[in-house]
Amino acid sequence: MSLTPAVPSLTTVTDPPSKVETELLILPVFEEDPLDDVPGLVDASGGQILRAQDSKELRGRPYEFFLTPVSGWSAPRVALVGAGKREEFDTERMRRTATAAALAARVRRVRRIAWVLRGDVDLRAAAQAAAEGLVLASFSIDRYKSVEKGGPPAEEIAIVVPPGRGDEARQAIERGRTLGECCNLTRELCNEPSNVLTPRELAARAAAIASGTELQVDVLDEHDLERLNMGLLLGVGRGSDERPRVIVLTHTPRASAGGRAGTHVLGLVGKGITFDTGGISIKPAEGMDRMKTDMSGGAAVIGAMRAISLLDAPIKVIGIIPAAENMPGGRAIKPGDVLTGAAGKTVEVINTDAEGRLILGDALWYAKELGATHLVDVATLTGACVVALGKVASGLFGQPEEWVDVVRKASSVAGDRAWPMPLYDEYAEQLKSEIADMINSGGRPAGACTAAMFLKEFAGGLPWAHLDIAGTAWAEDAKPWQPKGPTGVAVRTLAELAFTSETWK
Ligand code: BES
Ligand code: MN
Ligand code: ZN
Repeated sequence: MSLTPAVPSLTTVTDPPSKVETELLILPVFEEDPLDDVPGLVDASGGQILRAQDSKELRGRPYEFFLTPVSGWSAPRVALVGAGKREEFDTERMRRTATAAALAARVRRVRRIAWVLRGDVDLRAAAQAAAEGLVLASFSIDRYKSVEKGGPPAEEIAIVVPPGRGDEARQAIERGRTLGECCNLTRELCNEPSNVLTPRELAARAAAIASGTELQVDVLDEHDLERLNMGLLLGVGRGSDERPRVIVLTHTPRASAGGRAGTHVLGLVGKGITFDTGGISIKPAEGMDRMKTDMSGGAAVIGAMRAISLLDAPIKVIGIIPAAENMPGGRAIKPGDVLTGAAGKTVEVINTDAEGRLILGDALWYAKELGATHLVDVATLTGACVVALGKVASGLFGQPEEWVDVVRKASSVAGDRAWPMPLYDEYAEQLKSEIADMINSGGRPAGACTAAMFLKEFAGGLPWAHLDIAGTAWAEDAKPWQPKGPTGVAVRTLAELAFTSETWK
């Protein structure tokens, strides 16, 4: 199976900007920017750049886009994309500006673009972020449209770096390309409708995405799940004709990088509900279609595992995706039913729509069983998290604080915003059951926190972090740097995390 979306070619160029062969040469432009580090540009535009700066058409505000023909340069046209204040320009701004510029070029049906690295960000970080941003712009949401709208993605992208620094940049650009590509594969999965992407198909796609890497792929079917006593996952899957699966992707480092490699095993768990009707506690019709994206956490783990393997992370990493369809049906679980998970804990299912925490409970247990020493789960878990943080940041929970900090730093490097949320002991009181160990819903107050508290019970005392991506996995409003649709959130965070084991306890 060939992987879609197609990846543009990405090359590193050390020619001066005036000599770069491309259709459209793109440069970030800052506020009050004399552009004097780009010799000849202002003149080549025949006064157009100065005129636009004078008239305030071009102010350098973030994501402004200004196009001008240039004469005497190898490229026929130059685009300046607003990058804000030079002193505020960082990797995140670099990534977003690059995406915005490449999306703008795409609308204009430009197929060959070149991005000139400017600004004061460290070269490698800058080159990687630019590559990520440019590749992210080649994702398309419209694969089911018979007539393509928008514009075609770029075929050739060049990144222009200062002379003599090509070798330094090349590796970082390759890394950025891989991360961007893996984000796009994740976005593609999130975009798939649930009649196509069943748990079985998600497993097949995971295997396809793992092909060409050294990942080991294991898929557990319903009989395996019975044997492992995964009663929570099996319970959630009971209402559907599509049987649940557990997908396991394992990365074993090629070149073991010293002492940590043997002792630290990262377990990544992603919620893979291919459609969430709510089950017998059924959701309202309005907006239910979005629940095809309830496997976004699982998709993020799949994309991250591909990156982790291609980039050969120095530690063992196990990706686990419990996958099921949450449906009402003659055999579906009903409110008040009691399920027993693989960890031996009993759960009274108060609300069948709180299904994510159930399947994650069994998967977290399994991660430890397979030898994970540090856990992170990613899930579109609660509407309450969207109420708390909006669509701007994911909720970050976990214990101990040191581990949560490690994950938070990785998310910040990756440009996936995550904000720490509390796990006070008192939240556990909302999960007390009359007849079982726990109930699965703590009601409305602190809904994101009680959901996380439920998961904590299944982390087996390991360092564990939980990212609630209910608000961040899908963008409802198009932004210059982010079209409406799946975002690929958490892919880069999880991949980055696999390279930070030197800082773990
Ligand atoms: N998949 C939903 C959470 C969700 C909501 C994701 C909005 C993306 C956007 C989850 O399974 C769910 O239904 N959660 C319930 C929990 C409640 C029943 C305790 C919720 O948030 O309402
Ligand atoms: Mn639900
Ligand atoms: Zn759900």
